[in-house]
Amino acid sequence: MAFDKHLFQNIITEFTIDSDRLHQIAGDFRYDLRKGLEDVNQSSLRMLKSYVGLPTGDEQGEYLALDFGGTNVRVLRIKLLGHGKFEVVKKVAQPLRKPGEYDYVGEGSTAEEMFGFIAGLVDEAIEGDHTTKYLLGHTFSFPSEQTDLYNAKLIIWTKEFATKGVEGQVVNDLLKKALQAKGITNVEPTAVINDTVAVLLAAAYKQPNVYIGSIYATGHNTCYLESFEGQAQEPMILNLESGGFSKIIPNRFDLEFDKQSEKPGEQRLEKMASGRYMGELFGMAMAELLGEKGRKYDFTSIDMSNIILDESTARKDVAAIIKEHTGKELTGDDLTDVQKLASTIVVRSARVVTATYVGIIWQMAGGKPVQEQHIAIDGSVYEKMPLAKENIMRALYELLGDDAPKVDTVLENGGSGLGAAIAAAMSQK
Ligand code: BGC
Repeated sequence: MAFDKHLFQNIITEFTIDSDRLHQIAGDFRYDLRKGLEDVNQSSLRMLKSYVGLPTGDEQGEYLALDFGGTNVRVLRIKLLGHGKFEVVKKVAQPLRKPGEYDYVGEGSTAEEMFGFIAGLVDEAIEGDHTTKYLLGHTFSFPSEQTDLYNAKLIIWTKEFATKGVEGQVVNDLLKKALQAKGITNVEPTAVINDTVAVLLAAAYKQPNVYIGSIYATGHNTCYLESFEGQAQEPMILNLESGGFSKIIPNRFDLEFDKQSEKPGEQRLEKMASGRYMGELFGMAMAELLGEKGRKYDFTSIDMSNIILDESTARKDVAAIIKEHTGKELTGDDLTDVQKLASTIVVRSARVVTATYVGIIWQMAGGKPVQEQHIAIDGSVYEKMPLAKENIMRALYELLGDDAPKVDTVLENGGSGLGAAIAAAMSQK
């Protein structure tokens, strides 16, 4: 079959963000940020307080780090050595869902089962030692309302999590209870941070001039250090929950997908940009091109990555991936069009994400010259998705113009674990 060229072109246009719109998004994001600092009800950003500033880089000691943010949970024993150095002594990792075996994130799962499982992983990380005292830092990558560094209540699940009995609860209380039930009384959870905060702490532990931390993976979100200039308040990292930014005009695929999602109306930017959702949008557009409007084929962002990477003349990988997911055999131009569609969705994602970074940079500069800085980013989309990094750089140039050379991005790989250990160390102050 050959795609309807007119329809194809329309879909590409719907997923394209030109320079004017890019500037508009960055400006709107900055506006929401400013509004949010004055009165959070006036903003689509949650502006959540983390009760932590930047580390000195000299934090030391051995800590437990629990990294709970997506389908994989990790518990690490980390030795902070100061001077930005650290050592991972032990690492335990397990998925929260193993098809056919267990599922702690689906509809039928409960808080008790989930935290019981996690407490079991903590036990493995301390190798059954129930005597040595450990402080535990917990990177919990969901929107949480904090009143101090320990006390974080889950506001709402994101990333399609559906476990019962966690929303509205203090997550570290659930963890403590589960640890106690296993006789683990020597591990004391003392800090909860968002994964974006963990990335920022980890990057700032190692180098100066980092004020923004971001996750660009299954989920997407960004935090930054708010200086609270001219106010009594000490500088503090704010978790924006930028995935909830709602001022980008959605296209009809975004609207339709949102309607069918676990939490309609929530996480509008995240549903346009993060790895969990790009494949879904691609699957909807593909169905329409195949004459099956309204259907959604299941593709993942890894499929999209493999589609984009196929440089063979016959686009053999593209054909195979499409056949596997849709049962359809495509040839010729259709295959390059499929690649173009995947690329366009990835490029859109990178552009909107960058617009939010620049909104923050403008807000931090407050009309003064933009500061030299590195934006710390962790996550599979940033790290591995073809076209992501280069389009972030391109969009930074488009938006920042002469200031662009002052800003770059750095990969903070595994920052969630290290950041949790740093937060545990900082909790002792
Ligand atoms: C969550 C954020 C998190 C991000 C990246 C989003 O779904 O709401 O809290 O930082 O995913 O993991």
